[in-house]
Amino acid sequence: MAVRVVVGTQWGDEGKGKYIDMLAGDSDIVVRFSGGNNAGHTIVADGVKYALHLIPSGILHKGKTCIIGNGVVVDPSVLLQEIEELNGKGISTDGLLISDRAHLIMPYHKLLDELQENFRGSSNIGTTKRGIGPAYMDKTERSGIRMCDLMEKETFIQKVKSNLEVKNLIIEKVYGGKGFNPEEIISEYLGYAEKLRKYVTDASVVLFDAIEAGKNVLFEGAQAAFLDLDFGTYPYVTSSNPIAGGVCTGSGIGPVYIDEVFGVLKAYTSRVGAGPFPTEQNNEIGDTIRELGWEYGTTTGRPRRCGWLDTVMIKYAARINGLTGLAINHVDTIGKLDKIKLCTAYKKDGKIITYFPSSLNELAKCEPIYEEFDNWNIDISGVRSYEELPANAKKYLKRIEELTGVKVKLIGVGKEREQTIKV
Ligand code: GDP
Ligand code: IMO
Ligand code: MG
Repeated sequence: MAVRVVVGTQWGDEGKGKYIDMLAGDSDIVVRFSGGNNAGHTIVADGVKYALHLIPSGILHKGKTCIIGNGVVVDPSVLLQEIEELNGKGISTDGLLISDRAHLIMPYHKLLDELQENFRGSSNIGTTKRGIGPAYMDKTERSGIRMCDLMEKETFIQKVKSNLEVKNLIIEKVYGGKGFNPEEIISEYLGYAEKLRKYVTDASVVLFDAIEAGKNVLFEGAQAAFLDLDFGTYPYVTSSNPIAGGVCTGSGIGPVYIDEVFGVLKAYTSRVGAGPFPTEQNNEIGDTIRELGWEYGTTTGRPRRCGWLDTVMIKYAARINGLTGLAINHVDTIGKLDKIKLCTAYKKDGKIITYFPSSLNELAKCEPIYEEFDNWNIDISGVRSYEELPANAKKYLKRIEELTGVKVKLIGVGKEREQTIKV
């Protein structure tokens, strides 16, 4: 029996989906525990590309139970569309379960996300505008609507009506927007309720029973350490806890059950949306990385900001997640650059530091210190063993292990499920 967790160590899009799909092969249950359809996880299996936003990336393997945990905020229209798309590609969603405690993303959350971002003007966060922040705000404000409420017609109607009394005032009086008609939302969502009913259950019970029975469970992280509400580059973060600690609160299991925590990173760094990024290369190098790695958002299509790998960040992510192994992607991509730089520390106020500051003003003073590596400008996409990797690639990977204190266990050399080296 093994309970494994896969989390992002940077600002998302590290290639978590690819490893979750791979590790799902020998898992019985795959669980999403945080975020919503702000996530975009790409999987390329047998030459077919899938982009999953809500449904766990284990769904491509037959016979797996895939749970959307209570920590996830669910937009039912997006979920139903994803189910339809998968079914259309011949993928069964019979193994899907949704926690009855998961909160719903409502139409007013999506509008408020947009209105708030517009209101922030030049200091906007660059959210995905999927209603994620406003849905989590309602959860903590205790006015959220859960899956179990959607399953009870009268409760749902009453909650939509009482919420809209306040939401419409905010939308109209504060932001000058157009409010919602409760009847329209009610009829739309009650339609979703009937389609989703067969999936909705107390998922934490299913999970507990599976763990007790010795099944293999895999937790699928969305977002990443530096987008974490508590430990990320606040306020340029998402509104949930995507770190390993979020597994327990987002699915309903105790921490004692977790055996392994994989931290996924790219051999460089990317970020989509606003906020600090110490090793960003807003220049030809960044442009080259973006084109070589095809760094365009899976969810919004936005070009991703690109820069060098920052081991100060990975060391921090290792600490707050309790990482037991690194899974590093795009080793094929980075090897194509003329010279490769690796950030080993920061220089701040004349001192060398290896911690990641909490204050964004302090972070702005940090100047990355780099070590330079020679490239391995040969095609490694067909390499399947560590020994076969070029010496320069091994040197780069070893140095990452030394600086972060965590062993590299998986190496990505391409988009496909099989383009992975197990160390
Ligand atoms: P996630 O959100 O962490 O699942 O990552 P995304 O799917 O948003 O972004 C990762 C991108 O990198 C996708 O386009 C993947 O197909 C691609 N990818 C993942 N691993 C590798 C790799 O090792 N090499 C290359 N060239 N592409 C990769
Ligand atoms: P995956 O799971 C990359 C970013 C947004 C924005 C910030 C807040 O694919 O790695 P939100 O809509 O969550 O309120 O936006 O967080 N963001 C992501 N960036 N990958 C993601 O998910 C992200 N999910 C949110 O771009 O900067
Ligand atoms: Mg992504």
